[in-house]
Amino acid sequence: MLNPRKGIIGKKIIYLREVSSTNDYAKSIASETPEGTVVVAERQTRGRGRRDREWASPEGGLWMSVILKPRTRTADIPKIVFIGALAVVDALSEFGIEAGIKWPNDVWANGKKICGILTEGRLGEFVILGIGLNVNNEIPPGLEETATSMKLLLGREVSLDGVLQALLKNLDRWYGLFLKGRMDAILSAVKERCFVLGRNVKITDGKMEMVGMAVDIEGEGALVLETPGGRIRVFYGDVSLRFE
Ligand code: ATP
Ligand code: BTN
Repeated sequence: MLNPRKGIIGKKIIYLREVSSTNDYAKSIASETPEGTVVVAERQTRGRGRRDREWASPEGGLWMSVILKPRTRTADIPKIVFIGALAVVDALSEFGIEAGIKWPNDVWANGKKICGILTEGRLGEFVILGIGLNVNNEIPPGLEETATSMKLLLGREVSLDGVLQALLKNLDRWYGLFLKGRMDAILSAVKERCFVLGRNVKITDGKMEMVGMAVDIEGEGALVLETPGGRIRVFYGDVSLRFE
């Protein structure tokens, strides 16, 4: 078990053996707990992805949620998902794993998904930054083709506490820049680590479909697509991105 950290993120850490979803637990305590409180569970029985999709969360993975209470412009809130993605990519690189951001909310390594991020919140009150990282856990049946873990990539188990420690440190650093309004630094780091740029992609929201080359990520976090009809900005939301 970790000692509490000095920065904002992880001053208080709540460890749970099992929970439905750390995001749900974090939401239920958010109003009476300080900013930066982290909820970690050994396993989740109802881990969630976007659109209420199932997030497999067996023992051995890092399933956690951070409670944030940013007093920033509402327009900046969607960028909190980038704080999570940047911190995960940087933490993985400390373990020798080269990973990249799949806009908007995944981290991939070696062509497969290693981490998913789910942000939820109540406007003006709190944001929950939920991070699911495959560390030593088995890849759930059916996901072998699309998912990977630190253990698979490194060929050995790693200390879950060590990974949590590295992640909290990097979260603290990126969130510090976010609070200082350094959106320029955040955005350029995201662009550097986002392997979607320069590739042909298809974006869908279930109803509409857009195909084009991803060329930029703009101020508000929107992905810019170059299409035959001109440039289109796609906002972070419940959209899916596939490579063409
Ligand atoms: P899309 O591009 O359609 O949004 P996605 O992979 O980003 O695809 P999400 O809703 O963000 O979809 O993430 C949920 C998906 O992640 C699930 O449908 C499942 O395929 C996959 N998944 C679930 N558990 C894990 C896990 N532990 N590791 C990797 N992938 C997982
Ligand atoms: C996604 O890829 O759609 C996001 C997956 C997010 C999973 C994490 S695990 C910790 C937190 N609790 C949840 O129920 N979901 C997030």
